[in-house]
Order: sequence, then C-alpha cells, then structure tokens
Amino acid sequence: MTNKEIKIAYLEYESLDQLDSQDRKLAEAAIAAIATSYAPYSQFNVGAAVMFEDGEIIKGSNQENAAYPSGTCAERTALFYAGAAYPEKAITKIAIAAGQKGVLVSEPVTPCGACRQVMAQYQTKGGKPMEVILIGSAKIWKFTKVNDLLPLIFDSI
Ligand code: THU
Repeated sequence: MTNKEIKIAYLEYESLDQLDSQDRKLAEAAIAAIATSYAPYSQFNVGAAVMFEDGEIIKGSNQENAAYPSGTCAERTALFYAGAAYPEKAITKIAIAAGQKGVLVSEPVTPCGACRQVMAQYQTKGGKPMEVILIGSAKIWKFTKVNDLLPLIFDSI
C-alpha cells in the first residue's frame, strides 16, 4: 500500500486591479453577464465568460426554469454556447461571478460538480489548459487548469 496525495495550487488576488489586463477584461465580462441571469427561484444571479485562444470573449448566465432540472448554470450556458458557435476554437479561460440583489457576492463563487465536468471536457476538446477565475468582491481565485478543481477527471471514453 502506498499513501498518495493530491495538492491543489491556486492564486488569490484581493481585487480585479491585481489581474493582468486579459484576465481583468474576462472578469469584467463575467460580472456584466450577471445582468442577463434569469433566476426567479434562487435569486442567485451568476455570470460566466469564456475566452478563446484568439482572445474573443463570449458570455453566459444561469437560466432557471419552473421544471427545476431544466435550468442551467451560467458556466454551462457559456460553455455550450462556445462549443456550438465556435466548435473549432479552444477555450483557454473561464471566469465566473455571482450577485444577490444586485450586489457581487464577497466570496469567490465555486462551480458545481456538473459544470466542472463540462469544463474538463471542453479543456480536453481544446487540447489546452483552461484557466478558471472565480470572482468575489473580497477576493479572486485563479486556477491554471480545470484539473485543479476536479482531480482525477473522468475523460476516458
Ligand atoms: N449556479 C450557477 O449558475 N453557477 C454556479 O457556479 C453555482 C450555481 C446557479 C444555479 C442556480 O440557477 C443558482 O445558481 C442557485 O444554485
């Protein structure tokens, strides 16, 4: 028997000003996308923005439905839109932000398991590490690849 350990490294920033200009632009797009959220049930408004290898950005937000499981998280809205609109382009970054009653949440919003799995697969599809930027008003976390949020990813079929 061998003891194994998985370590996760990530960067923490205190404000958007500390991000480089590309990351800041993406983070601002995710924050802007909060305004398009449709969350009449949870009142938790989430915005996501993905950046392709060529720097283009597209946005998504959570879209809820009275038949609850039919709704979709912001990350998957943005990722599926990216996959459908630009199937040939690799996604190199995703930023996520959330607000409640018009106020950005203070702690970074951390994606659900299903969104992590979808991120992982688009990372594999693109063949490039996908950076993940999680935004809160008090701090921002940056992961350099999806694997750090989903160790031992299932991508074997
Ligand atoms: N939600 C997201 O869109 N992304 C996350 O990372 C966390 C949760 C949405 C799903 C649902 O519409 C609402 O937030 C409350 O869970």
